[in-house]
Amino acid sequence: MSLKAKIFLSIAAVLVAIQFIPVKRDNPKFDKKYEIKAPKEVKALFKKSCYDCHSYETKWPWYSKIAPFSFFITKHVHDGRGWLNFSVWEKYDEKKKKKLKREIFRSVAFAMPLSMYLWIHKEAKLTKEEKDKIRYWASDGTMVIDKEEKGF
Ligand code: HEC
Repeated sequence: MSLKAKIFLSIAAVLVAIQFIPVKRDNPKFDKKYEIKAPKEVKALFKKSCYDCHSYETKWPWYSKIAPFSFFITKHVHDGRGWLNFSVWEKYDEKKKKKLKREIFRSVAFAMPLSMYLWIHKEAKLTKEEKDKIRYWASDGTMVIDKEEKGF
């Protein structure tokens, strides 16, 4: 067998082998009464752009079943839920909600949703107005934005 063929077969063998490494693609059951209560427009934006990683209602795409993508995706979801989980938001105490709101206010401007996610999920991209809506909510209405834009 040529060296090229050996290398090719080794890579193929590794790719097959890693498919057997278990990953946790779960959506635990949760009590709807603990899901975040926020104005309809704001919640709709969270659902559109954040729920895949920050809730128990993750829409697992087909490629999340294929290693090595499955490793990144499940890690993002479990890390994301660990930081912030909209499905259990109403269980957080006031202090935690306040801290998370500050982080949402900050991260929604630049960091969230993750850019890797946005390459594939173009529909999750937030416009400036949508970001402002979330930030207005996260700041408990203290952020000054144009009344017209606010929409609620
Ligand atoms: C593709 C998965 C994914 C999506 C979609 C996503 N996040 Fe995250 N988020 C993460 C991960 C992973 C972390 C953990 C920390 C990190 O890696 O930066 C995180 C952390 C956070 C944090 C806390 C720590 C920090 O970095 O500020 C906040 C707040 C947050 N996300 C808000 C949001 C909001 C709001 C949205 C929707 C507009 C969103 N995320 C969408 C994966 C995601």
